[in-house]
Parts: sequence; structure tokens; C-alpha cells
Amino acid sequence: MGRAKPSAIMLVAEKAKKLKAEGRDIISFSIGVPNFLPGEHVYAAARESLTKDSGSYGSNRGPDALLDAFLKHLKEGGFEGYERKHLATGIGAKQVLFNVMYALLNEGDEILIPTPYWTSYLDIADILGARSKLLHCSADQDYKLTAAQLEAAIGPETKVLMFNNPSNPTGMVYTHEEVRALADVLVKHKIWVISDDIYNRMIFDGLGYAHLVKARPELKDRVILIDSLSKTYGMPGWRMGFVAGPVEVAQAIVTLNSNHITNVPEVVNAAAVAALAGPQDVPIQKNKEFEAKRDLVMAALAKCPGVICPKPQGAFYVFPDISVAFGRSHQGRLIANDVDFCSVLLDAKGVACVPGSAFGEPRAIRISYTCPSAPVARRHAADRRFLRRACLMQSWLRWVLVMTLVMLASSACAREQRVPEGLRILIGSERVVLLSTTWCGYCKKLRADLDAAGVSYREWDTEQSEVGSQARARLGGGRTVPVTIVGDEILYGYQPDRIIRLAKQ
Ligand SMILES: Cc1ncc(COP(=O)(O)O)c(C=O)c1O
Repeated sequence: MGRAKPSAIMLVAEKAKKLKAEGRDIISFSIGVPNFLPGEHVYAAARESLTKDSGSYGSNRGPDALLDAFLKHLKEGGFEGYERKHLATGIGAKQVLFNVMYALLNEGDEILIPTPYWTSYLDIADILGARSKLLHCSADQDYKLTAAQLEAAIGPETKVLMFNNPSNPTGMVYTHEEVRALADVLVKHKIWVISDDIYNRMIFDGLGYAHLVKARPELKDRVILIDSLSKTYGMPGWRMGFVAGPVEVAQAIVTLNSNHITNVPEVVNAAAVAALAGPQDVPIQKNKEFEAKRDLVMAALAKCPGVICPKPQGAFYVFPDISVAFGRSHQGRLIANDVDFCSVLLDAKGVACVPGSAFGEPRAIRISYTCPSAPVARRHAADRRFLRRACLMQSWLRWVLVMTLVMLASSACAREQRVPEGLRILIGSERVVLLSTTWCGYCKKLRADLDAAGVSYREWDTEQSEVGSQARARLGGGRTVPVTIVGDEILYGYQPDRIIRLAKQ
């Protein structure tokens, strides 16, 4: 256990959380949480399951209804010939992955890991005492493993290839041709492949989901597919992961489950069935939104001199090479590497990104762009103006541009996050009148929120006036601030965390 290291991504997220708890306004582009919730039918299924609790242990493999829902999902993804015996489930893809690696790797075995990699691949291999051989895939090869690279890397010692498509941290997606070329190499060498496909429903630009087994079906008895509900369905905390692979590997996972987790909880299984088999509107809609956000982030980065960023076509990450900033200083602090860059960014600007070295690529940073997006578009125009001016800057200032871009995008998110749900009603309306009283703390908060949300408003001190007392009477005398949108004469009662719409009288 001395070999186990805490996840680097979690460390950044924890530091950001700590600063937030200390009162700093922190925007997190660090952890890969999808930032949306599953559809109501998922919660309904969970609630119903609680009313029918069996009060017992469950299947080590997973209940039939869940396995069947996952088989349907596989079929929709273009996979043929899988049955329940090829499947197993676990507590999220991470635990499933740990089990698969545990089942396949003995101490000293070699595993090929294309780099940049998702951090846990290396950490789990280290825990198991396996030898990781990193295959560096730079930004100029779109961070993707090539067939030639794979061919050259496979040796007599190689036991497993780790393959991740779409990729975390780069968001890159392999085309059918690229996957086919890799599959052609793999059919010649008797090694296992762990294919981590958890972002398989988050693919943009109509690219399609390519897979080694679909390209060369004869690989089916050596390729193990990993899937999860965490990202696609907005269910990271529910912890549901899947494996589909050769019968003996699936059986090994079932045996391991029988010795540690026993089963995934019944309520989670029920929610998972609903997510997989029920309406798919939420994941489809979210995929569209992520694609649009990807475009915004890429448009900003494209205007950033010296930054190299291959265009991601899936997941919700961009992975710009920011090494142009190395060797510069910010307020007396030298930016020597990606860790310094992220550290200055967090301390000085309150923006959390993950240094690329956590993923084996120290020239880059990972931006996870799942934050709310409404104002990002507005800010984007400002970014462009800023960039046009910035392009005239001397080159030694250019790294500042890199940081500022991230900061600009984040401040947009910050504004979105600070705006209480109800206040969004007022955003975009030009004739808001705040019926204020100078002494009222809620008014102060509302002024700050309106300012932060960019809502222009007029203020009418109603301390003594008839209008104020009438409005307050309509609000029922509670501790709320009356706000109107003039013209529509709609009255709202505002509290620091919500806004109440009152019926027109
Ligand atoms: C590539 C990849 N694989 C696996 C996981 C783990 O997913 P889960 O939440 O299902 O454990 C993640 C989570 O970030 C990931 O990005």
C-alpha cells in the first residue's frame, strides 16, 4: 500500500475547496464532474426501488434487469454478440477498472499507457506493482496513439494496452480509420486491451463511436470494455460502472466482487436501469451543450498566440499546451512549469485547472469546461475585443494572455454561479426597478447580485412611500425586497437565495 498515491486531480479540487471554504471566490475547471443531474425518471425509479427493498444481498454480477439494460446500450453502440455472461458491474468505472487491472496484471507485468493518460491508470498500475510503459503522444499528433507507435512499443513483455477513447484529459476522439489501424496491429499480438470508453456518448461533430472490437471482431476475446453512468448521465456520485469482455474476465470481476463489495446497492441498480433504458433526452441535450461550449473555449484559445490546442471532439475537456508561458513571471512569481502556472492561476485569480503533469504531459493544463455557460457567450465577445488588443502586445506579455483567457472564461462562470436561480428572470430585462430601503441588508445583497449579473436597474427608495408599503403588503410582509420589471408590472419578492414571482393584480 506504500505505493498508493492520492489522485492529483482530487488534490487540486481539495485545495480549491479549501480556498472556497476560507471565503475565496474560486472557479473550478479542475474536477471532471458533468455538472448536471439525471432526468426525473431516474429519481422516480430510485424512489420506487426503496419502497420494494428486498432487505437482502444482491447479485455479485449485477441484477438481470441491469445487465439487460446495459446489453441494450451496447447494441445501440453497435456491439453484437454480448450476453449477460460477458458482463459485470461495480462501484463506478474506477473500481471496475481497478478490478480488471488486478485480474490481468501480476507484479512486474508490462502495461502500455498512451500519454497523456487519465491519472488513475498509472496509479493503479503502480499499486499493483506493474511496469508502466508510457507512449508519449504529443499535441502535434493530436495526443493520439498511432499504429506505428503501438507496433514499435509492443514487446515480448507486454501484457496489456490501456486505451481510452474519447480521452480524458485531452477530449480527443479516434476516428474509425485510426481505430482500424490500431486494431490491425493488435490482431497480430496476443495482448489484452482495456478499452475505457466511459465518454462514448459524448462525441461531437457527428464523428461516431469507433471501437477496436467493431473494427476487428476477432479482438472480442482480448478487449475489455469499461463503461460508466457517471459522465453521460450526470450520475458521478451514484457509482455505477460496467465491464463487457471475455467470459473469464467478467467472471473474475464477479469473483472479486464476491470478496469485497458483494453488490452495487439495489437503489443504484434501479436508477441505472432507468438511466440506460429510459428517455435519453438529458444526455443528448447535454452533449449538444458541451459541443457548443467546446466551440467557445476553442475559439478563445485559437486567438491565443503560442498556445497549441488540438480540437477535442468529445468528453468535456480541452488540453492546451501552455508552455509558451514558461520562464515568465507574474507578480514576482516565476512560472517555470505547469504546476507553477496552475498554482499562480489559483492563488492570484481563483481559477482551478489541473497541471498536465498529473496526466503525464507537463507542457499542458486540463480545463474541464462543465461550468454553467449562459454568460460565457456574452463574455466571449469581450474576450475577442481583449484578444485583438492583446495581439498587439509584446511577446513577453503573451503568457499573461493565456492566463487571462482562462480567467475571463472563469469569471463568466463565476457570475453565473453567483446568480441565484430566481434572479435569472431579471437578466436581460432592461427596466428593473428595485424598490429599496437604504437600511435593508437584503437590498445590499440584491444590488451586489444585480451588479454581478450585469443587470442594469433603477432604484427607488421606498422607505416612506406608499408604493413601498403596497408592494410589501403584496409580498405578505415577509423579509423580502420588492422588485418590479416596469412595463410588465410584474412584482417579485427577492431574498438572498431566491426570488418569488407574484401574480399580477
Ligand atoms: C477516463 C476515465 N475513466 C474512468 C473514470 C472513472 O469514472 P467513474 O466515475 O465511473 O468511476 C473517469 C473519471 O473521471 C475517467 O475520466
